[in-house]
Amino acid sequence: MVQNRMLTSVSSAAGAEPPAFPMPRTCPFDPPAEYAALRIERPVTQVRLPTGQLAWLVTRYEDVRRLLTDPRVSSDREHPNLPLTEPVTPESRRRIAAVGRSLIGLDPPEHAPRRRMLVTEFTVRRIQALRPHIQQVVDGCIDELLAGPRPADLVAALSLPVPSMVICELLGVPYSDREFFERCSTAQLRRSIPAEERQRTTGELRAYLDRLVTAKEAAPGEDLLGRLIVHNRETPVFDHELLVGLAMLLLVAGHESTANMISLGVVGLLEHPEQLAQITADPAAVDMAVEELLRYFCIVDAQPRVAAADIEIGGVTIPAGDGLLIAFAAANRDEEAFPAASTMDLGRGARNHVAFGYGIHQCLGQNLAREELQIVFSTLFARVPGLRLAARVEELPFKKDSNVYGIDQLPVTW
Ligand code: HEM
Repeated sequence: MVQNRMLTSVSSAAGAEPPAFPMPRTCPFDPPAEYAALRIERPVTQVRLPTGQLAWLVTRYEDVRRLLTDPRVSSDREHPNLPLTEPVTPESRRRIAAVGRSLIGLDPPEHAPRRRMLVTEFTVRRIQALRPHIQQVVDGCIDELLAGPRPADLVAALSLPVPSMVICELLGVPYSDREFFERCSTAQLRRSIPAEERQRTTGELRAYLDRLVTAKEAAPGEDLLGRLIVHNRETPVFDHELLVGLAMLLLVAGHESTANMISLGVVGLLEHPEQLAQITADPAAVDMAVEELLRYFCIVDAQPRVAAADIEIGGVTIPAGDGLLIAFAAANRDEEAFPAASTMDLGRGARNHVAFGYGIHQCLGQNLAREELQIVFSTLFARVPGLRLAARVEELPFKKDSNVYGIDQLPVTW
């Protein structure tokens, strides 16, 4: 496997220009190497964003969890100091605000009633009821993979179609439109795609979901969006715009994140055959393995917040109004919380990772993501025991420019 575990020191001279954020990854399996030194030397430190803004990067596990439950920390996506990793235009501000206002960018007291309306759709019980359907989807994809040529691209054959099909079915979005919405969601998350193109594709996705939500408002049907529209008539918390924003959040988060986690998880398991053997020998061990893969890869690097009041943390006082970047990927590698944190250890049994965030915005779809990952890993390695990479890890196209880490293509053979 690829190794690059040297502690990369960060400049700490007083008055020095703050390091640039996002920081580059030098090992495909690890978060940016600077995080390790920052956690020790400057656990709360200023960084410079591509927009020129300054923000406070928080890298220690305890600090991350503390801030995510601190009522003085705001998720307001419309705040002018919210740290953004892309150039800001009035259009991109509007787009971020519209999705944010639906759920992820709300603070108390507005957040709770909207989240409450959705949680019943994502309870463990509700998601367990989807198990036979998810299993069927996974088996169908593996049947096609085995019937097709070798090598095959596992992203196209399995990682993307499984969560896409499942979220489409759940939300009531036609799966036949997948190429369109997969292209639009990818564009939303990639920093290297020109801003105009990202805005155009996001506008297209928004217009598409606007038409879909309008149709469901007229005839709700038996899917999540339909149920939500009916429920919302009795207890109104979402207007039409917010429903469209929410549909966008669920559709993008619902397939893109899980797809990336499937691909990275497969690479992680294939690169650690002795650990993979443990889960193939004992299928019950897959649940714990999934938690470790989530911690180890932590695909959502950092999320933005704003300090709504002065906050003392990690030896500094963050002034009210300053932007914060809560680095989940750094927290998940904190040795204080996870001994030998840079080692992937499927038997670790740590469910207290922050790969799904923490506090009121903790991932709404985590039960669904867990179930999809468990079914994919246990089925794939049982049905294709000879699965192996058809390229060297170093050659794989990792998504270095994406706000959600992953792999674009994964050539495999068996
Ligand atoms: C492996 C897959 C996934 C990962 C790693 C992941 C990660 C995250 C993280 C880190 C957050 C917290 C963001 C923050 O605090 O700012 C979050 C929130 C969220 N996720 Fe996920 N997610 C995954 C899958 C999903 C799925 C499948 C869905 C939907 C079906 C989903 C829907 C959401 C929503 C709606 C929120 C916002 C919740 C709120 O603001 O109350 N996610 N996710």
